[in-house]
Amino acid sequence: MSDSIEMNQLRWDRTNAYIRDTFARTDAKHAGIMQRAVEAGMPPIDAGPETGRFLQVLATSLNARLIIEVGTLAGYSAIWLARGLARGLTARGPRDGRVISIEASSVHAAFAQREIDAADLGFTITIRQGKGSQMLPVLLRECGPASADLIFFDAERSEYLAMLDTAHAFLRTGGVLAVDNALAAKRWTADEVPPGEPRDQMDIVNRAIGADTRFVSTLVPVGNGVLVAAKR
Ligand SMILES: C[S@@+](CC[C@H](N)C(=O)[O-])C[C@H]1O[C@@H](n2cnc3c(N)ncnc32)[C@H](O)[C@@H]1O
Repeated sequence: MSDSIEMNQLRWDRTNAYIRDTFARTDAKHAGIMQRAVEAGMPPIDAGPETGRFLQVLATSLNARLIIEVGTLAGYSAIWLARGLARGLTARGPRDGRVISIEASSVHAAFAQREIDAADLGFTITIRQGKGSQMLPVLLRECGPASADLIFFDAERSEYLAMLDTAHAFLRTGGVLAVDNALAAKRWTADEVPPGEPRDQMDIVNRAIGADTRFVSTLVPVGNGVLVAAKR
């Protein structure tokens, strides 16, 4: 039996590379989205392939027909989510289900729309421009309570707790709220808070959802950490 192995930065990088190479390969057009986005002046703050694949697995296991994303950026994670939608023949094509992605920036929304159209997912992924905290209640009214299988927060952290009740009403029983960057806030949220410093907002979100008995939740250390909360 080998000695215990320390998880250091090198091992963490190798672990992510292993997940990426073994499970999270994608086609060249999808893989190239963030390079084109950065060349267009957008920030490289996508969820990355390991988290993207995790989202696809979540959507597939939920047999998802309606997925809501908050924070589109260039459409990279929306395409992973769309690839996890339940399949079936419809009048419009082979996919039965849709992703609605909320984006505050008109520049990001326009860029993402072009990428989504180029990926032939224009009927599957709809971008709605606005702030998550304002648009999520609008979508809840349009789609109805308990209609969403999966909701993914990846935008403005200060809005997450304000959107929690709406997300709960939107999810069906067994549906999942996933929140990206649950480990990587201003500091790694699992690290000790230095004396005299307040808790980071993401740490506050993790603890609030972890203690919320309407969900059964945990934090999956893939990519920058994804909080997953299943509605009871
Ligand atoms: C981390 S990026 C999203 C990355 C994307 N989910 C991906 O992995 O490909 C965050 C995005 O949220 C947008 N955003 C910022 N504040 C927002 C808000 N209050 N509501 C909706 N979107 C917001 C930003 O413009 C940015 O495009």
